[in-house]
Amino acid sequence: MSEPQLDVHLDADAWAPQLRHDVVSGLTSSPKTLPPKWFYDDRGSDLFDQITRLPEYYPTEAERQILRSRAADIARLTDADTLIELGSGTSDKTRVLLDAFTATGQLERFVPFDVSEQTLIDAAKFIGEDYPDISIHGVVGDFERHLHTLPRGGRRLIVFLGGTIGNFAPELRREFLDQVVATLDPGDSFLLGTDLVKDHDRLVAAYDDSQGVTADFNKNVLRVLNTHLGANFVLETFDHVAVFDTENSWIEMRLRSQIDQTIHIADLDLDVTLRAGEEIRTEISAKFTRDRVTTELADVGLEVVEWWTDDVGDYGLSLSTRR
Ligand code: SAH
Ligand code: TRP
Repeated sequence: MSEPQLDVHLDADAWAPQLRHDVVSGLTSSPKTLPPKWFYDDRGSDLFDQITRLPEYYPTEAERQILRSRAADIARLTDADTLIELGSGTSDKTRVLLDAFTATGQLERFVPFDVSEQTLIDAAKFIGEDYPDISIHGVVGDFERHLHTLPRGGRRLIVFLGGTIGNFAPELRREFLDQVVATLDPGDSFLLGTDLVKDHDRLVAAYDDSQGVTADFNKNVLRVLNTHLGANFVLETFDHVAVFDTENSWIEMRLRSQIDQTIHIADLDLDVTLRAGEEIRTEISAKFTRDRVTTELADVGLEVVEWWTDDVGDYGLSLSTRR
């Protein structure tokens, strides 16, 4: 087994100015917002991992079920020797693909890409141990900015799982997809997981679980600001809120201040005033239909060649290629 290679495009030096910029612009706008990538420090990544095991959070198991039944097809249809995973996290479900791609002997390289450095290093290590015949090339970066740094060569399959595509605002989603297409060479493929529109109560429960893990995860972004920017948020003075926005077809996560308060963010020399009941928007998670996925992919020049769902139609997985 060779040592995993690691490219770091977002080290501590690059991270800090971006966090500062995002926090100033988000917390001085109306309504106040905080961008989602800052959820995923070590603790946030661990909390997300717990979310994936919650009974209410159906997307992970639904996606795993599709991958189990289709992995061999995906290996054959793509004929890929390189598997690139964006927002890879623990790459736990990805093992289903790695198993299928190594069973045929076609896989040469795995490229996990994530903003969360320690999670990526751990995942690369464990996968390297379990799949000793492939090379591992991890990339620490922001998939909104660093897709052009992905390693080229070979026949590549880019996978983007977990419904993370739904966490982009629509304009940013389009920009992201444009960049994915720009990195695809002829013969490369794109495998995309999308959560689908369904009963609103189930959707809301998936983002507001009874054990409060999602609430902890949402509030963790405030802890990140306390740790890295010297802010003085008291997490207990915020409520986690998840609502389904029917018009936009997305779940919106917010943090609602219980009291009138002024937060001081020392490193930014910024005071942020919140009224009782005022909300900070932290995350959206868009819910799709098959038509919408097909259309949005077509808009950037991708043709869906396969569309699969789990048994009950909760979740969709599309395989597409450049036209
Ligand atoms: N793919 C996994 C994890 C999904 S959670 C699954 O299906 O369960 C979203 C992942 O994307 C996290 O690991 C998070 O660290 C990563 N992420 C979020 N924003 C990112 C960004 N801007 N650039 C790169 N990775 C990002
Ligand atoms: N990609 C995940 C999703 O949209 C991220 C996620 C799950 C999330 N639960 C969350 C983000 C709660 C913020 C808060 O399903």
